[in-house]
Amino acid sequence: MRGIVLSGGSGTRLSPLTKITSKQLLPVYNKPMIYYPLNTLIKAGIKEILIIVTPERAGDYLNLLGSGRQFGCKFTYEIQDKPKGIAEAFIIGENFIDNESVCMVLGDNIFEDDLSEEIKSFKRGGKIFAKVVSDPERFGIVEFDKNMKAISIEEKPTKPKSNYCVTGLYIYDNRVVEIAKNLEPSSRLEYEITDVNKKYLELGELEVAMVKGEWIDAGTFDSLLLAQNLAKEKLADKLII
Ligand code: DAU
Repeated sequence: MRGIVLSGGSGTRLSPLTKITSKQLLPVYNKPMIYYPLNTLIKAGIKEILIIVTPERAGDYLNLLGSGRQFGCKFTYEIQDKPKGIAEAFIIGENFIDNESVCMVLGDNIFEDDLSEEIKSFKRGGKIFAKVVSDPERFGIVEFDKNMKAISIEEKPTKPKSNYCVTGLYIYDNRVVEIAKNLEPSSRLEYEITDVNKKYLELGELEVAMVKGEWIDAGTFDSLLLAQNLAKEKLADKLII
């Protein structure tokens, strides 16, 4: 399985912190933010990892993370010229993914759980990770029937059908590349990861696992502060890089 850390975007919600650096390079307690999602992949034994970055910050990522050899990994870098959507990662990453399955994590997503077994047990289709949130309008939201089978997914719904948010960790088989290439941009002109998930749901091949521990999308001032505290209290001694 190949890994991708999607670490582009403009980080405007964290301006002025992000005026001179990338959001995913900001400190979260004693490590740059991207170390946390990288840990999620590396703990699961994923060694070939594509890091997708903006052109302005590519040099900073290279300086920080290099070849990956010091972590026992091989890092590859690609540029996303404009933030055209999370699902564009599978188009940018087509050659890198090759004939493998792929596990992608967003560069600002911090998981308390060790999800290694969930990642390693993936076989085919799609697998996503849900967590109950209090502000479902801000996220991709998955609705379940009474047997906890996923029945719908919506991106930032105005009337959310549940409080189960789709977190920024996604595993797909190799079909994801073709699925991504056939997406239409959404009303906000992005290639939506939610549309990829809807496709696997339609195929009846989308598995939804639950995140038990804390999960933080560290993209706002308040969530960044929460992430700092989580990192200090619970994560610092669990990191392997
Ligand atoms: O955090 C989980 C949520 O992430 C999901 O529940 C949503 O379904 C998903 O759309 C996404 O929502 P966000 O509003 O958090 O997406 P955002 O545009 O903030 O992008 C998330 C991260 O991905 C961010 O760190 C920047 C990076 N990104 C985003 C886009 C759109 C890129 O590198 N390139 C892009 O084109």
